[in-house]
Amino acid sequence: MKTLITGGTIVTASDNYKADVLVDGEKIAMIGKDLKAAAKRINATGKYVIPGGIDVHTHMELPFGGTFASDDFETGTRAAAFGGTTTIVDFAVQGMGEPLEKARDAWLKKARGKAVIDYGLHMIVRDVSDKVLREMETMVKEGVSSFKLFMAYPGVFMVDDASIFKALTRAAEIGGLICMHAENGGVIDVLVRRALASKHTTPKWHALTRPPEAEGEATGRAFRLAEMAGGVPLYIVHLSAANALEQVRLFRDRGLPAYAETCPQYLFLSVDNYDEPGFDGAKYVMSPPLREKWHQDELWKGLARNDLQVISTDHCPFCMKEGFQGQPKQKELGIGDFSKIPNGAPGVETRMYLTYDGGVVQNRITLSRWVEVTSTTPAKLMGMFPKKGTIAVGSDADIVVWDPRATHTISAKTHHMRVDYNPYEGRKVKGKPTVVMSRGEVIVEKDTFLGRKGRGRFIKRGSAILQT
Ligand code: URP
Ligand code: ZN
Ligand code: ZN
Repeated sequence: MKTLITGGTIVTASDNYKADVLVDGEKIAMIGKDLKAAAKRINATGKYVIPGGIDVHTHMELPFGGTFASDDFETGTRAAAFGGTTTIVDFAVQGMGEPLEKARDAWLKKARGKAVIDYGLHMIVRDVSDKVLREMETMVKEGVSSFKLFMAYPGVFMVDDASIFKALTRAAEIGGLICMHAENGGVIDVLVRRALASKHTTPKWHALTRPPEAEGEATGRAFRLAEMAGGVPLYIVHLSAANALEQVRLFRDRGLPAYAETCPQYLFLSVDNYDEPGFDGAKYVMSPPLREKWHQDELWKGLARNDLQVISTDHCPFCMKEGFQGQPKQKELGIGDFSKIPNGAPGVETRMYLTYDGGVVQNRITLSRWVEVTSTTPAKLMGMFPKKGTIAVGSDADIVVWDPRATHTISAKTHHMRVDYNPYEGRKVKGKPTVVMSRGEVIVEKDTFLGRKGRGRFIKRGSAILQT
């Protein structure tokens, strides 16, 4: 099956030019002016032709705080596709004392037969034993080439500095990448206990007990450990605060392979959202929490100057009310105790909309930089480039036709994520995907889903390309 995308402006991380794209089967076969072929045609005149979005931080069905994130691989990847994202990398979670292979297989089971777009897996390592350090090599060989460690959530996910140091050294030996949740979990735990003892129970206290200094400290410590391990690569996930960004900049300026992602919630929402009436602040309970508004400008500058290289979502939705599409009690688990509110918020569908509008339309980043931080660099750092993340001959035909003039109002009434609220409810954005193609197949066109559950494939990822 051949498809010819005509008349559009191709936008990659480096270029921006008018040309046609011929897709043959699953791949991009030819790029050029006035291409002729016996093919189905898609008219992209007046539109951008961009590589499909790549979201390297999602949690479909994540078990957390006594419940599970409400999107599964079917509903979550379908929503991703509606928003112009054609690849995700989700997180498998190692059971305490269990082999990594078991977690990998459990997550593959969740995804297979459900995912509508291609997906990779990271591995959350909770117990860094010698056996697990050996198993990491098998994971890398089998395409799970990145490992998330937590410096937060003592007793659940948190690992100590010695474990972090060992894992960093090991990852560098085997071509893996450590992804770090950098918040000082010990200090946060003390602050949470003190707040609860003083009867501070509302959602806002989630943010007040996780100060930006706790993120800055952990980020700096993580990079120092990476430096002591021999200057090995380290990728900070969901960076929210200027305090942490300052540490990334410091280590990058010292020439170390220091990388970090931020997420739309930290670019568009702020600590003020926790003041919404009643229990509504729970919509924004995520870790790290939302920060004071001034951090947003720093993060945008970080993106423009390449101190931040990636925008992911940390998509981890929990419903506000029990019963939505059969979901159990989720955010409500924390009524009367903010520390019991499941951490996370939805975002896989809205990332491309928000960052085009807030980034490109608002002149904070260029069009090519937008493509770079939402697709190309995620593909490079997570070992998927050039199969994914660009418009080039031989690459997978994961292509989005983006209409820069169309407008869209974000709302839970129309979104496709399985969650009963949207953190950006009512926000009007400029720019939207009109055609979304995954490996040569049109899966969304004119707001209609044309894909198939289970068509998404597991991506065996390689080592990071680190020049970014
Ligand atoms: O609040 C969050 N971020 N929930 C998902 C788990 C994580 O730490 O990424
Ligand atoms: Zn995290
Ligand atoms: Zn996460």
